[in-house]
Amino acid sequence: MFVKLFFVFCALTVTNVENKYRLKQVIILSRHNVRTPLANNLNEVSPKPWPHWKEKRGYLTSKGAYLEGVMGGYFSAWLKKEGLLRNVCPTEDIFYAYANAKQRTVVSAMSFIDKAFPNCNVKVHFKEESDPVFNPVIHNTTTVFKNIALREMKTRLKHLSLNNSLLFVENILDYKDSEQCKNKNECDLLNNKNKINYAVGCKPYITGPLKIGKSVIDAFIMSYYEGFSMKDVAWNSINDNKHWQLLMEISIGYHDIIFNTTLVAKDIAAPLIKYMSDIFINKEESPKITLLMGHDANIQTVLNSFNFKAYTLRNQFEKSPVGGKIVFQKWFDEDHKRDLLKINYVYQSTEQLRYGLNLTFEHPPEFTLLELKNCTADKNGFYIWDDFTSFLKSLL
Ligand SMILES: *[C@@H]1O[C@H](CO)[C@@H](O)[C@H](O)[C@H]1NC(C)=O
Ligand SMILES: *[C@@H]1O[C@H](CO)[C@@H](O)[C@H](O)[C@H]1NC(C)=O
Ligand SMILES: *[C@@H]1O[C@H](CO)[C@@H](O)[C@H](O)[C@H]1NC(C)=O
Ligand SMILES: *[C@@H]1O[C@H](CO)[C@@H](O)[C@H](O)[C@H]1NC(C)=O
Ligand SMILES: *[C@@H]1O[C@H](CO)[C@@H](O)[C@H](O)[C@H]1NC(C)=O
Repeated sequence: MFVKLFFVFCALTVTNVENKYRLKQVIILSRHNVRTPLANNLNEVSPKPWPHWKEKRGYLTSKGAYLEGVMGGYFSAWLKKEGLLRNVCPTEDIFYAYANAKQRTVVSAMSFIDKAFPNCNVKVHFKEESDPVFNPVIHNTTTVFKNIALREMKTRLKHLSLNNSLLFVENILDYKDSEQCKNKNECDLLNNKNKINYAVGCKPYITGPLKIGKSVIDAFIMSYYEGFSMKDVAWNSINDNKHWQLLMEISIGYHDIIFNTTLVAKDIAAPLIKYMSDIFINKEESPKITLLMGHDANIQTVLNSFNFKAYTLRNQFEKSPVGGKIVFQKWFDEDHKRDLLKINYVYQSTEQLRYGLNLTFEHPPEFTLLELKNCTADKNGFYIWDDFTSFLKSLL
């Protein structure tokens, strides 16, 4: 009871502060929603039958489209409440959607819009799949850069300790009975070697046990969100959150190596950060609301580049959940006649995803405050806008 009262009290104070301020502009950097597993070799790593998916490999599922629509409905209600949207179809100076051209990102953005602005015909802009703004590839062509990047990635790889996680995956898969083991003599996730693959113009990736682990966990977690019965989620071997966490360590470790060393993250994210900073700094006429629909690679490299403090996402196993959004908000403080910045990670909890729960003001998505190491926030998480833009310029 006391705990409950306390939280209600906190929520009220925060709302009061934001009532004093007026929301002026928002950039929503989003990951697409639930898709089918990406790996094409799952049958080789386990003798057990994998669940069937209706959609093609790597495509947004209809559940994913539904879930992203739920997000769209919530954001539209929120942005109306804050006065940034009105009850009419938005023009592109109010709302602008830009997605990577992959099916899962374009359809995610369309699903968001369909529910945010029903019958409005709001367009999703996209270019080609290799659109540099979203393509998470290495740009820097120098050998100096390559040497530092590889050294940093190798250090991360060396310090991973994932034995328990990998052993768990081996058991779940029956790995010793898999084609991979029988035909390629790769039978041991703990001892088989990992290799970091690095090339200019390409996304860095790892081959070996970590990649296998990451791929199967991706399949498990998507099956879970999709709402499959537990016999079709890792063949009923995941019993509790501890198990999920043990598994997720592999996928977090994998992404930590390829996307979370600072030099590489900044290099990969540079075009996207340039695009966002043009909206925030340079363009007078930039849209009030921009939806950028990309991938976890985009979210992770942007998070690293901005040098955020470590964060934990309540009620989520993933570090960059499907449908999750980094929401940069520009607020106006009337009393002091100044602009402020606040940044939240807004995402659906695992339950909201699995059970397809609607999002309302009574049952909102999760909001986690993101804090910059390089600027000083007030006690409610607001930064002085000009501090933020000078920091942003230092990233370009
Ligand atoms: C490439 O990386 C090197 C080493 O970090 C750096 O000095 C150089 O400025 C980078 N070049 C570009 C074009 O970013
Ligand atoms: C993890 O397993 C490998 C291979 O069996 C072993 O060499 C290593 O010492 C183990 N690491 C830890 C921390 O137990
Ligand atoms: C990235 O690295 C930082 C610092 O090393 C760490 O706090 C953070 O959890 C990492 N992020 C991810 C997504 O692994
Ligand atoms: C879901 O929530 C939105 C507000 O966030 C509301 O407009 C909509 O009516 C709700 N849908 C259902 C089916 O309850
Ligand atoms: C941001 O803070 C980090 C330490 O966390 C520091 O190394 C870096 O130089 C700072 N960047 C700027 C632009 O102040």
